[in-house]
Amino acid sequence: MSQATLIPGQAIAASLRASIREELEQWPDTRPLPCLVVIQVGEDPASSVYVRNKVRACEEAGIISEHRRLPADSSEEDLLQTIEVLNQDPNVHGILVQLPLPKHLHAARVIDRIDPNKDVDGFHPINSGALFAGQPRLVPCTPAGVMTLLEHTKLNFRGAEAVIIGASNIVGKPQAMLLLAAGATVTLCNSKTKDLRAHCLRADVLVAALGKPRFIQADMIKPGAIVIDVGINRLDSGKLCGDVDFEGASQRASWITPVPGGVGPMTIAMLLANTLKAARGNF
Ligand code: GUN
Repeated sequence: MSQATLIPGQAIAASLRASIREELEQWPDTRPLPCLVVIQVGEDPASSVYVRNKVRACEEAGIISEHRRLPADSSEEDLLQTIEVLNQDPNVHGILVQLPLPKHLHAARVIDRIDPNKDVDGFHPINSGALFAGQPRLVPCTPAGVMTLLEHTKLNFRGAEAVIIGASNIVGKPQAMLLLAAGATVTLCNSKTKDLRAHCLRADVLVAALGKPRFIQADMIKPGAIVIDVGINRLDSGKLCGDVDFEGASQRASWITPVPGGVGPMTIAMLLANTLKAARGNF
């Protein structure tokens, strides 16, 4: 088997960001520019990096953004009040509450209070329900970005076997809905799945989103499969790696995403796209 072709997430994301920037250069003076507020509760170091990257990408694309920091011991009432004020602000089009939240805060209750029309994460039940019903509105950024990466292959996924490892609300579940809509036969594996290897070996499209460094080894990959690595793990050496053993997997797959430079930049580009969509108000 020859070496897999790289799906260039960094370049695809850059091109999407550039098209958003071009659209914003033509934005009518009569309308407020798209604006995203990212709320971070506490100082989780990984979250701080992610939020900084989101805010910087907004600035570069011409989207107004704010990193709103709340203390780690904020009450749920404080957070809900912050969200309520942003819901009512006509100059704010996107609201994102960075997860995970500190343990005393209940993520589902918090997400429920974000105006579904400003829910650029696509996590509100109105938006996840619309996706489930086959009528997508604001779609979660990471799985939407994965679909854009898959489009890059120009392959047709009707009838393809798609296997997703990890059934989170952020990635796995919405990813299953999107692949189903593309005509794939979808298997959604979770931490209790028996014989994960057998599932993986059937996959024409394998999406790894389980959060375990280099868990997916070459011998779990069907020759010729498309491998999408959603994992971002920091090794003790400080180096980033995905959920897939990239070197080994590249010997078996036909297409593969790198880490870093694959799914990560697409998540951010899709967040900008969702903020623009929310500002336009056309779902
Ligand atoms: N934490 C990890 N990924 C995400 C994401 O896509 N959105 C939010 N809000 N928090 C996250």
